[in-house]
Amino acid sequence: MQAIVTTAPSGDPAEARELAARFGLRAEPRADRALSTILANVAGAPVLVLAARRADLYERGRAFRASAGMAFLRLVRAHKGEIDPIVAHAGLRPGDTVLDATLGLGGDALVAAHATRTRVVGLESDGTIAAFTQASLRRLGSHGREPGRSVEVVHADHRAWLRKQPDGSYDVVLLDPMFRRSGDAGPLFDLLRFHAEHSPLDAQTLREAQRVARRGVLLKDAARGEELQRLGVVPRPSRRSATIAFGWAPASP
Ligand SMILES: C[S@@+](CC[C@H](N)C(=O)[O-])C[C@H]1O[C@@H](n2cnc3c(N)ncnc32)[C@H](O)[C@@H]1O
Repeated sequence: MQAIVTTAPSGDPAEARELAARFGLRAEPRADRALSTILANVAGAPVLVLAARRADLYERGRAFRASAGMAFLRLVRAHKGEIDPIVAHAGLRPGDTVLDATLGLGGDALVAAHATRTRVVGLESDGTIAAFTQASLRRLGSHGREPGRSVEVVHADHRAWLRKQPDGSYDVVLLDPMFRRSGDAGPLFDLLRFHAEHSPLDAQTLREAQRVARRGVLLKDAARGEELQRLGVVPRPSRRSATIAFGWAPASP
C-alpha cells in the first residue's frame, strides 16, 4: 500500500513533496486538518508526518518516531573512542568510500559515515523505510548531525543497482539482509518487519558486491552464521556471547 507523507504545523510541505517524489510516496497537503482526520481517510496506509524537529510514521494503530535508535548509542561510544564492530571488521578509516547496500534504518551507514568522515551511499528497496530513514537522518542532534548529513539515501534494489556500477567503485560494501528472527529487540524493528525486503542474499549479488568493492564486502548474519555458511563466507572470530556474526568477502581480483 502506497504510504502518505504529510506535515505537522511546523513541517515544510516542500520536504513532503521531495520525499514523496524520491521514494514513491504520495504527498498529502495537511491543509489544517487534524491528524485523526488524515488517518481516517487513508484506508490503513502508513502516514509519515514531518515536523521541523521530528518525524513520526503512523501505521497499524502505532506511531514510530524517526530516530537513530541503537545507532545513537553506537555513535556516543564512537565519540568516546570505542571502535564499533563494523569499523573493526571492515577496517574503516577516514576517507574510505562505503556503499551500504541494505540501508534499513541507517544505523550502520551512520556509524560508517562517522568513521570515514565522508559520504556513504545507502541503498534501500522499500520506499517507506527509505523516506522514514531520510527524515530521521535529517533530524539527528549532537553526535548524529554530521554523519546524518553524509548518508545519501538511494531508493533502489541493490541487485539491479550493483550490476550497473564499475569495478572497484567503493572501498567497502556493507550487506546486512533481513536475517533476524521475530523476537528481535528494538521498537523500530516491527517497522522493518512490516516493510523490509526479506529475500535472502543470493550468491550472484554477493559476487557483484565483491566486484564493486575495492577491498571487500562486510556481511552481517545471525549469531549462528548459517547465511554466511550458505554463501561460503568464513565468519570472523567473535565472542561466544555475540548476537551477530560478521563475514568478510574480499574484493574479486
Ligand atoms: C536488517 S535491515 C538493515 C539494517 C541496517 N544495517 C541498519 O543498521 O539499520 C535490511 C534492510 O535491507 C533492505 N533490503 C533487503 N534487500 C534489499 C535489496 N535487494 N535492495 C535494497 N535494499 C534491500 C531491507 O528492506 C531492509 O530495510
